[in-house]
Parts: sequence; structure tokens; C-alpha cells
Amino acid sequence: MPVSREIHLVARPDGMPTPDNFQLVETQVPDAGDGQVLVENLYMSVDPAMRPRLTAGQALNEAMTGGALGRVVQSKHPDFAVGDLVSNRMGFREFFVSDGKGLTRLSPADGLPLTVHMHALGGTGFTAYGGLLHIGQLKDGEQVFVSTAAGAVGSVAAQIAKIKGCYVVGSTGSEDKAAWLRDEVGLDAVIDYKAQPIRKALEAATPKGLDVYFDNVGGDHLEAALRRMNTLGRIPVCGFISGYNSGHSPVSNLSNIIYARVMLRGFVATDFMHLYGDFQRDMAGWLRDGKVKYQETIMEGIAAAPAALIGLMQGKNSGKMLVRLAA
Ligand SMILES: NC(=O)c1ccc[n+]([C@@H]2O[C@H](COP(=O)([O-])OP(=O)(O)OC[C@H]3O[C@@H](n4cnc5c(N)ncnc54)[C@H](OP(=O)(O)O)[C@@H]3O)[C@@H](O)[C@H]2O)c1
Repeated sequence: MPVSREIHLVARPDGMPTPDNFQLVETQVPDAGDGQVLVENLYMSVDPAMRPRLTAGQALNEAMTGGALGRVVQSKHPDFAVGDLVSNRMGFREFFVSDGKGLTRLSPADGLPLTVHMHALGGTGFTAYGGLLHIGQLKDGEQVFVSTAAGAVGSVAAQIAKIKGCYVVGSTGSEDKAAWLRDEVGLDAVIDYKAQPIRKALEAATPKGLDVYFDNVGGDHLEAALRRMNTLGRIPVCGFISGYNSGHSPVSNLSNIIYARVMLRGFVATDFMHLYGDFQRDMAGWLRDGKVKYQETIMEGIAAAPAALIGLMQGKNSGKMLVRLAA
């Protein structure tokens, strides 16, 4: 019967979360019974969408949830063997018992590091792929802007647009991340929005306007992009991270969608599950060929999970934010 540590939400944050909103709790997890497996999580994902859930959705004083990748360490289930790697939604804890529902067996035999299944070849990569190609209806050679372009979703969206021969502008919040986007990824223009006003910088970086804005931020970034949209432009709205702490993210020029006949559409990745096979084939190829590069910020141990979530909201991650829970 293993001892597992897990993270509970004990107080709802007002604005930016603080460490005392969370508690590390030790609990005994039973051994696997008939029809069950015991899973040890190896990595857990840290995602911006967890922040709104701290305000409403996540129950107090129980283990938080989120994406994770674990290894089966006991099995009395016919479909799973000890050693199987499984993706699951039981993050923020070291061990858990499952009847198999919600577990997806992973095959790491594709020659790529295991952790890519948690970002570029997983949920955030798929969000970028479907959001840009399906919702955003990207065409080869278009003018594109991606916000949080050095993050997990944004970095993949920006690189897919480059693969499609587009002119790509990315925004990010530090010179280090801007340098990676310029020098490693090869974006056409990069804006450090903390060093210069986004509105003026985007105007200077988009002499031919914008056909597609892949929006991860909302607020001032969306407002700046709306001023630059070409006729019949598209704005796939993926996230509104500038408003996740405050609960609002004002945009004053939405009427621009009328004049330029802009399509602005929010989406979630489950909207285009029919593309998952195409995505896995394309993305595995791009990763192997080095056409899609990635960064990871990996924090160590379950006790670091609250700091990882707070850090994500402060831009401390380069690429995907993960917590390693076991070797
Ligand atoms: N619709 C969907 O199905 C779906 C799925 C996954 C994610 N998302 C959304 O996609 C976006 C990116 O998610 P991700 O997982 O890839 O996270 P991420 O970009 O890897 O990490 C979050 C980044 O957001 C930036 N940020 C934080 N506060 C900001 C602010 N006030 N203004 C501008 N940027 C800010 C920071 O980067 P900088 O240092 O560059 O500021 C931070 O590193 C989020 O909005 C998320 O909610 C949507």
C-alpha cells in the first residue's frame, strides 16, 4: 500500500495564485484490487486552463486534477500489464488506483522522447494544429500572428505556419524567449510585448496586415491584432490568458470584425478529433525532421506543482511546463 503525496486547493486565489492557496497532503493509496491497476505518475502537465478552475470548478480540500503520464506498477486488469505507460487525467498526485477508464496506453516506440507526448505530440500540439489549420483555415503563404509564441501551444502554431510558407510574427514576454523564436525557430518578426507596446510593435511587424491571428492572450493582443486584420481574416481564439487572474480581458475595437469581415471563433481541441490521426502522422514527421522544435521547463517533485502553476501565469516557462514526479 504506497504512500502518495498530492496537491489540494485549500483557498481560492484572488488574482495571482499564491503558495498558501495549496497544500501538500500525504495519503495511503490501496493496492490494486480485481479489475484495477495501480499507477505511478512520472510527469504531470501544468496548463493555463487550471487557473480559471481555481476560481470555480476545482473542489476545495481534495486532490486537483490534470493531465499526467504514468507507469502501471501493479495490475489485476486484463488490458494492462506492469510497465505499461498510460496518459491519464489524474495529475497533482504521485500514485492512484484505476479501473482502467480514462487511461490511454502510450507506445513510446516512435523514437521520440516520452515527454513530447505531453506537448508537441499531445494535447497542446493538437490544439495548435487543429486551431490553425481547421478553425483558422490557414492557407499557404498567408500573414500570421501568434501570441505566447514561445509557449507550448503557441510555439507549435507558429512553426506550423512557417512550414506552410507563411510570414509569421510571434509575441512573447522576455528577451530569452524572443531570441529562441528569432534564432532557433526562424520567425519573421518577434515582439517582446513587455519591452514595447504590442499595438505599435505589431503595426511595424505586419506591413501586409494579417490574414490569421492565433489568439492565446485576448485583451491588448487581440485589440492590436484586430487593427491589422485583412479582409476575410480569421481569428481562432484559443485562450485568453491575460484575463485568467483578473477574470476580465477587455477589447475595445470588436467592431473591426465587421469592416474587415473577420471570422472570430473560439474552440476547444475536442472540436476536431477527426483530425487526430493526421495530426499524429504530420507532427511525428515534423519532430523527427527537426521542422518543429520545442522547449520544456521541468520542475522537480510533486511539492513544486503549485510553484509551476504560479510560474506559468508569470511566464517563467519556456515551452511546455511539466513537473517530474518520478524517475
Ligand atoms: N482551446 C483549447 O482547447 C486550449 C488548449 C490548450 C491551451 N489553450 C490556451 O492556449 C494558451 C497557451 O497555453 P499553453 O498551455 O501553451 O501555455 P504556455 O503558452 O506554455 O504558457 C503560458 C504563457 O502565457 C504567457 N502569459 C502569461 N500571462 C500573460 C499575459 N497577461 N499576457 C500575455 N501573455 C501571458 C506567458 O508567456 P510570455 O512569457 O510569453 O508572456 C506564459 O509562459 C492559453 O491561453 C491556454 O488557455 C487552449
